[in-house]
Amino acid sequence: MPTAIVTGGTDGIGRALADVYLSRGHDVLVVGTNAEKGDAFLRAAGSAAGDRARFLRADLSLVAGNRHVIDWITERYATIDVLILGARFHRSTRVETADGFESNFALYYLSRYLLSHGLADPLRRAEHPVVLNFGGAGLTGPVRWDDLQLHRDYPGTGALGHSAALCDLLGVHFTEVYAVPCVLNHPGVVATSFAGEYDAATAAHVDGLRTSGKPVAEAVAQILPFLDAPSPGLTAVLEGRRIAFTADSAGAARLDDITRKLLAGL
Ligand SMILES: NC(=O)c1ccc[n+]([C@@H]2O[C@H](COP(=O)([O-])OP(=O)(O)OC[C@H]3O[C@@H](n4cnc5c(N)ncnc54)[C@H](OP(=O)(O)O)[C@@H]3O)[C@@H](O)[C@H]2O)c1
Repeated sequence: MPTAIVTGGTDGIGRALADVYLSRGHDVLVVGTNAEKGDAFLRAAGSAAGDRARFLRADLSLVAGNRHVIDWITERYATIDVLILGARFHRSTRVETADGFESNFALYYLSRYLLSHGLADPLRRAEHPVVLNFGGAGLTGPVRWDDLQLHRDYPGTGALGHSAALCDLLGVHFTEVYAVPCVLNHPGVVATSFAGEYDAATAAHVDGLRTSGKPVAEAVAQILPFLDAPSPGLTAVLEGRRIAFTADSAGAARLDDITRKLLAGL
């Protein structure tokens, strides 16, 4: 039975992709913090899905949360065919996690780093594995090398984009090390929950996006062909179109080195 793991699978584009894979007969695990949303996924899957549909509650902004998820998954799934990295949580003001990391850096980048490296072995056991990382697809840089965790001039919404640029570098390094195809997807503006805490001005803007964004089903239709027939290596996709992407291998190795050192003490 093919397996799909979806972080951010309790809502938005991730939830819709989880539903697609479930309807195709995959074993599907969705990961999120909200038990009600997780139960809603299981209820919608129905008894026919049995334990093909699973929900794991975990806070992926914490290193320990990611390590728990990796252990939980590797105990239960020998292979992973599809790994979708979609969890995010916007913050208008800078917040640090209990590990001391800036919250977007922790959830949007570091979690994806831990999960993709931590699940590389079951991915490599699959015949045609693919990783979908909702990164910036090369469109959301530059990287602030002297301030990766945004201590100065915290950019609010821009913090998501900055983490997405780090995910692009993660994708470059990951495909160089493991030879597992990876898709960096920028879906455009999609009418989802836009999970987060917003200041008043941003909240008003985001309320508009929740209705003016394209339907989730459209975003899913745009990305599925790239997951169903992944090209080797790295593919950058913007709203269903493959786009040119310059792989910054030196930057990717630099970020990997920094990340390893950050994680070493934890
Ligand atoms: N929507 C857009 O217009 C847009 C544009 C560009 C890029 N993207 C990217 O596309 C991806 C999917 O976005 P979306 O808009 O579909 O998502 P969304 O509706 O905002 O949902 C966010 C997901 O992240 C999960 N999450 C939040 N905090 C978490 C935590 N601490 N630990 C674990 N899970 C957590 C939420 O689950 P719980 O509620 O269960 O915690 C939820 O499933 C994201 O990477 C996003 O940045 C979206």
